[in-house]
Amino acid sequence: MTDRRIASARHRARVMSAEDAARLIAPNTTVGLSGFTASGYPTAVPLALAARIEAEHAAGRPFKLRIWTGASTGPELDGALAKANGIEFRLPYNSDPTCRDRINRGEMAYFDMHLSQVAPMAWQGFLGPLDTAIIQVTGIREDGALIPASSVGNNKTWLDRASQVILEVNRWQNPELLGMHDIYYGTALPPNRVPIPLIRPGDRIGEPCFRCDPDKIVAIVESDRPDRNAGFTAPGADDLAIAGHLMEFLEHEVSRGRLPPSLLPLQSGVGNTANAVLTGLIDAPFDHLTAYTEVIQDGMMALMDSGKLRVASSTALSLSPELTERINRNMGDYRDRIILRPQEISNHPEVIRRLGVIAMNGMIEADIYGNVNSTHIMGSRIQNGIGGSGDFARNAYISIFMSASTAKGGKISTLVPAVSHVDHINQDVQVIVTEQGLADLRGLSPKQRARVVIDTCAHPSFRPMLEDYFQRALKGSYGLQTPMLLDEALSWHARFVRTGSMAGG
Ligand code: COA
Repeated sequence: MTDRRIASARHRARVMSAEDAARLIAPNTTVGLSGFTASGYPTAVPLALAARIEAEHAAGRPFKLRIWTGASTGPELDGALAKANGIEFRLPYNSDPTCRDRINRGEMAYFDMHLSQVAPMAWQGFLGPLDTAIIQVTGIREDGALIPASSVGNNKTWLDRASQVILEVNRWQNPELLGMHDIYYGTALPPNRVPIPLIRPGDRIGEPCFRCDPDKIVAIVESDRPDRNAGFTAPGADDLAIAGHLMEFLEHEVSRGRLPPSLLPLQSGVGNTANAVLTGLIDAPFDHLTAYTEVIQDGMMALMDSGKLRVASSTALSLSPELTERINRNMGDYRDRIILRPQEISNHPEVIRRLGVIAMNGMIEADIYGNVNSTHIMGSRIQNGIGGSGDFARNAYISIFMSASTAKGGKISTLVPAVSHVDHINQDVQVIVTEQGLADLRGLSPKQRARVVIDTCAHPSFRPMLEDYFQRALKGSYGLQTPMLLDEALSWHARFVRTGSMAGG
């Protein structure tokens, strides 16, 4: 039933069922959808679209789409469309298991790209035209302005670029979200680009709502499904140890005068370890903290509720189901302390560099020289994607990567002679932390870095193997700037694929 969420009579005239809206999308076209993590993503239209695609396939008619989003979404979008085998191409970040399987089986093309670059590349035009935007909003104001939902992502760009727009007005989203967003309309392509006028994480430089030409809106669908992010597991011993090493490091940096007592704006990546680190900051001796990040997870809300975190800038809320409900009920309380921006701005290299962000991201593996793989298992299987880690790592004041020192029950060392895929070159990686310890690699040459990584981060069961490799590389390498045994550097990965374990020779 239509309610006051759609305050404009002109827009109310466009309300229809999800099935009717899905019929407006033609096969072999490009669709840009809202959603950054399982927050603020459309659900009713993608589910109806998936059902339509299945029916078309059953009738022997091909139906595939090119899908652009903000980042990962939820099961009703990526999951449903992938199960219907309706995605031909997808960008920019995925964590849905069905999509992951199809990508790794070679059935779906996937362009894994820096999240800050999606909107500019769409404007540059070489991604091709955008036919339809499907955007979840919290409401439509009388003047036609669209009240954003719990993520912003690339919505502004999709609304601007698409030939036709379908809106999902989601009644679960709290109308008190109005005023939390900062939609910046000042971006342009070179040679007309100007500086982003954002000096502090809490600055507001844009507008609270999206603009959208009403003539482009072909359908409005009402929905009420909640955001559906996965929960977090209680931090394990490794997570707590990593958090402990990091707190010690940050305290040391403050004591040496290399960081201010309130630190610098924090960026925290996805996953349980990142969440544990944020929780660890509650008991650490830092106050008046700020965050300039791309997702706000439970740990960051706990930090805010503790009074330690003053303000957080992000592009999405990405909370566990329990916290989602609580924060959604009390959204008004957070409107002045949380700012949700387009991902082009939350991840903007210029702003990250200016603010001096402390970037803390997870990794799959690192090598002894500090190159980091965030995306591929054994060099070829995608796990998720680079997400914003590259945006932050390259431009951070301090770029930190963290992981347990082993994976898969100790069969895999996350510190290896050479990474099987490179996402972050050693110049973009300044600190590596495992439960064993923290390697501060700033200012070190490759051989010095290897010494610290092996001694500090490696698991005792793999340390002698790394030491042995390094010593032999020092003797047998073609050159000695970054010693490497070409025949052996990826042999640990090859052994895992062959035997199920990196250990043993
Ligand atoms: N070799 C093989 N598998 C490995 C591995 C390694 N070196 N390291 C981790 N894995 C596997 C784990 O076993 C797990 O597998 P499972 O799902 O079958 O259980 C999976 O990879 C995820 O690892 P987990 O330990 O649960 O890590 P996480 O949740 O902390 O995520 C990343 C780690 C790297 C996958 C995650 O941080 C990521 O996607 N990063 C890229 C995006 C990013 O950094 N965004 C930041 C900006 S928000």
